[in-house]
Amino acid sequence: MNYGFNQDSIIKPPVTEPLSNILPNEPLLLMGAGPVPISHAVSRANGVVINHLGETMDQVIKNLKVMAAYAYQTKSTKIMGVSGPASASIEMAITNLLWPGRRVLVLKVGTFSGRMGEMAEGVGAEVDYIERSDARPINAEMVEEAFKKKKYDVLTMVQGETSCGVKTVDFAEIARIAKENGAMVIGDTVCTLTTMPMEMDQWGLDAAISGGQKGLSSIPGVSVIAFSEDAWKFIEKRSVRQPHWCFDALRSQKFWGHQQYHYTAPVPGILALHEALRQICDETLPERFQRHLVSSKALQAGIEAMGLELFIPESYRLNSVVAIKLPDGVDSAKIRKSMVDMFHVEISGAFGLDIVRIGQMGEQCRAHNLFRVLYALGTACVTHGIPLDVSNGMAILEKNLQQPILPN
Ligand SMILES: Cc1ncc(COP(=O)(O)O)c(C=O)c1O
Repeated sequence: MNYGFNQDSIIKPPVTEPLSNILPNEPLLLMGAGPVPISHAVSRANGVVINHLGETMDQVIKNLKVMAAYAYQTKSTKIMGVSGPASASIEMAITNLLWPGRRVLVLKVGTFSGRMGEMAEGVGAEVDYIERSDARPINAEMVEEAFKKKKYDVLTMVQGETSCGVKTVDFAEIARIAKENGAMVIGDTVCTLTTMPMEMDQWGLDAAISGGQKGLSSIPGVSVIAFSEDAWKFIEKRSVRQPHWCFDALRSQKFWGHQQYHYTAPVPGILALHEALRQICDETLPERFQRHLVSSKALQAGIEAMGLELFIPESYRLNSVVAIKLPDGVDSAKIRKSMVDMFHVEISGAFGLDIVRIGQMGEQCRAHNLFRVLYALGTACVTHGIPLDVSNGMAILEKNLQQPILPN
């Protein structure tokens, strides 16, 4: 039969393998620095495809924006989802607020805060860094000094530097200094949003970013950004050509503000984010902050009681991702592998640092997950010859979950 093409010229299909052969029989418990476990409601929503335009989607977007505004603590309506990881939302902030001739001060304490500088260089902005490579936060005085020397149009910073577990303690204070000096503020709240306080309007952020797969406990690949109304007015007045098409905030607003086509929206990811945000709103932020604090502090106490050392001192330790030192000479990859093999629990290594990291974001902060990850870590370490008191660690974890010892 003549099908209108030459069968012999078509390259043969590859040998295929069903996904079930590749995935572990029992899903791993994701206790690393993200992605994190998702709730059943989020998982169900992620399996649904509807038309990305039309009344049903309009209602989803309307709800999502209101709920995201609550998460960000903003009255701004310039909130949009981005089809891409948190880095894509960060790229959207950078490319809409920076271009050649604009000056940006980048506070770099690790991989992610540094990435904003790389992106700013990419769009041709003039980039200066305040950099710390000693796993300590950049503080308000350092920023004040920098503004005495030079004027900047934008400042970028991260609330929680996931790569090493450092918290920008002076986050709100630094935003205030930047604003007083006439700079706009881009804040990466990717791992922190809804795990600890962040008040976008009160603190004066002009662009705040979050990824789905961290504090929000949604799926990776769809992130959410909020611009302040002031930043929006500035973007609307832009006269320099926007190099990006997908990340053009004004084009994106067609979909997120006016229910019109920009590009085909990532429907399941948006539905998943809707459900994740709904659960956050139902829980309420105060309850959620408290759950994260109690959970992370109890885990930290358990780790120390077992005999391991935490990498970051308490005064600037990030609770959303806990960085742990292993004794000298221990291969952390082997410990992590044993945790997977013996307990189906996965935690993270680090970029260039000899630490392991346990996430405390969203669904990770549940008692059953804490007990499992701590036991898995302790037992894997003991298996590799590290003398730890696992029972003591478990007992201290339990005690701290019952009667939390929290900072003043
Ligand atoms: C603080 C922070 N910023 C940005 C990112 C980048 O997120 P994504 O990998 O979704 O682009 C991450 C991811 O780990 C992060 O933890």
